[in-house]
Amino acid sequence: MTRFISIEGIARRYPGKGASSDTTIFEDLWLSLDRGEFGCVIGHSGCGKTTVLNILAGLDAPSEGTVIVDGKAIAGTSLDRAVIFQSHALLPWRSVLGNVAYAVASRWPAWPAARVKDHARKFIALVGLAGAEHKRPSELSGGMKQRVGIARALSIEPKILLMDEPFSALDALTRGTLQDEVRRICIETGQTSFMITHDVDEAIFLADKIFLMTNGPGAVLAEVIRNPLPKGRARADLHRHPDYYPVRNHIVDFLVTRSRTFRAATPGHNPRQVPVIAPGAERGEDPAPAHRLAAVAGL
Ligand SMILES: Nc1ncnc2c1ncn2[C@@H]1O[C@H](COP(=O)(O)OP(=O)(O)OP(=O)(O)O)[C@@H](O)[C@H]1O
Ligand SMILES: [Mg+2]
Repeated sequence: MTRFISIEGIARRYPGKGASSDTTIFEDLWLSLDRGEFGCVIGHSGCGKTTVLNILAGLDAPSEGTVIVDGKAIAGTSLDRAVIFQSHALLPWRSVLGNVAYAVASRWPAWPAARVKDHARKFIALVGLAGAEHKRPSELSGGMKQRVGIARALSIEPKILLMDEPFSALDALTRGTLQDEVRRICIETGQTSFMITHDVDEAIFLADKIFLMTNGPGAVLAEVIRNPLPKGRARADLHRHPDYYPVRNHIVDFLVTRSRTFRAATPGHNPRQVPVIAPGAERGEDPAPAHRLAAVAGL
């Protein structure tokens, strides 16, 4: 498998005020995703998740290090990398169709209007909004707006879909439905995706790999969890799978205590060789060492 996304030793620092030294949000961050993989980042507020996503999107630049996507170092934004923000950022004066078609036309400027509309309609249908094409954002619910955001991002057929807590403002029912849709679409289309979430169950349902970041400032990637649940998992019976609680407990333990103590407790941590673990995959054995599969997260 090729490394489709390779984040190589990036740091983000902000200059200190007056005589104070620079603040390092995170440093020496190495992580990778293969083509078609779904990665989720989990970590406390302020550890730098959005900053990493913005760097991947080309909206921000690292103070050190490089990001390689599909064999090329990224420089600036690109229609190859679509972002779904928490606030859907739709154009209020355009209809659902108009919002999606606008993105399609920027991607393929030579297409005639009819082809742009057909293509846009296909993605509007994919997110379950067929029939609502002519509504304006003000006539839509929060969940529907977020669907338009998803349709717009997918319609440009990006190499990478970047999502920053895309469902956090939605009610539980809508969130669940959209999680199902995003998972179905990503599997059907082989979409490579990178998502930030604070919702542990959302990460376990959607992700192939879960990246655990320690608290900032000076945050580091502590572990990569390889999701032990089967690919054909369903949201409704996630909790019945024997590996569900081991993986969930591992993430919650990390967030509650280890994210704070990790750096002091793990002096030999090598950010280039972050442990890849699969909690629960070897049930009945000593949890810590038995689950250390390989140290292959970096290069
Ligand atoms: N322009 C800036 N100048 C100084 N510090 C900044 C700037 N932008 C962001 N930061 C700091 O960088 C850190 C990381 O911010 P970021 O938004 O990436 O966090 P996050 O992990 O996404 O948090 P949340 O979960 O709350 O969204 C924060 O401590 C923030 O205060
Ligand atoms: Mg954020």
